[in-house]
Amino acid sequence: MLPVPIAQQSVQLASFNRQVGFITMPEDGLTRRQVLLASAATAVCAGIPGLGFATIQETTTNMEPKLVRVPDANDIAKAIAGTAKVGIQAKTHEEHLKLWQGYANKTNEIRKALAELDTDPAKANQIYSQMRALKVNYAFAYGGYINHNVYFETLGGSGGAASGDVATLINATYGSFEKWAADWKATGIAGRGWAYLAYDHEEERVWSYMGDAQDTFPAWNNTLLLAMDVYEHAYYLDFQTARAKYIDAYMGVIDWNAVNARLKKARS
Ligand SMILES: [Fe+2]
Repeated sequence: MLPVPIAQQSVQLASFNRQVGFITMPEDGLTRRQVLLASAATAVCAGIPGLGFATIQETTTNMEPKLVRVPDANDIAKAIAGTAKVGIQAKTHEEHLKLWQGYANKTNEIRKALAELDTDPAKANQIYSQMRALKVNYAFAYGGYINHNVYFETLGGSGGAASGDVATLINATYGSFEKWAADWKATGIAGRGWAYLAYDHEEERVWSYMGDAQDTFPAWNNTLLLAMDVYEHAYYLDFQTARAKYIDAYMGVIDWNAVNARLKKARS
């Protein structure tokens, strides 16, 4: 027996409700949501199989969206204190913070919009629809937020060769820190936005990915350990277009303790 469409169910149940007297108010003027809720509640009372609870779930009021914390000046303090020695000035981080805050604010804005969105599938469209616009841009906004969380969390250290368990994993994948560093620098030069070091839970090893934007090119089941921003806003004030000089400077202030802390959390 084919399933009965929800719209048809509501018509059937509205009729059933009137017949058995569960609904005494006139149907005219009720919204589809009100009819569905009343019909679903009636179905539960009447024990009609296939109706009722699932319909109630569908029409339950949306929950308040969880919001991300918007970063502030405290979140760039470590970077400001730790990167002047390699030529990355405080002004760079202060301007960068504004962009980071933008990703946080837009993440929250999209989460609120999705919570209020009419999710009627008939209104979704792959060419243009609110659902498409919100879902596509959510990946960019939240991706940008996470990227910058990790960038500033792992910046402002003593740099140099990796230490701890992450050094062991880098050696296992790349043969040596120097070989990884060469790959990392080339990844940062070739990318248009990011170089990422991630822990791959599938293969239980680290791997350096490239990003052309805030939402490219990660793979599933990887945890981000280190993120190097190579957009020009990350270095133009200090090095103009000399990205290679910025990468050299950046590698002198990686906080490997923070990277190892992320690795430990990822594997726990
Ligand atoms: Fe950035």
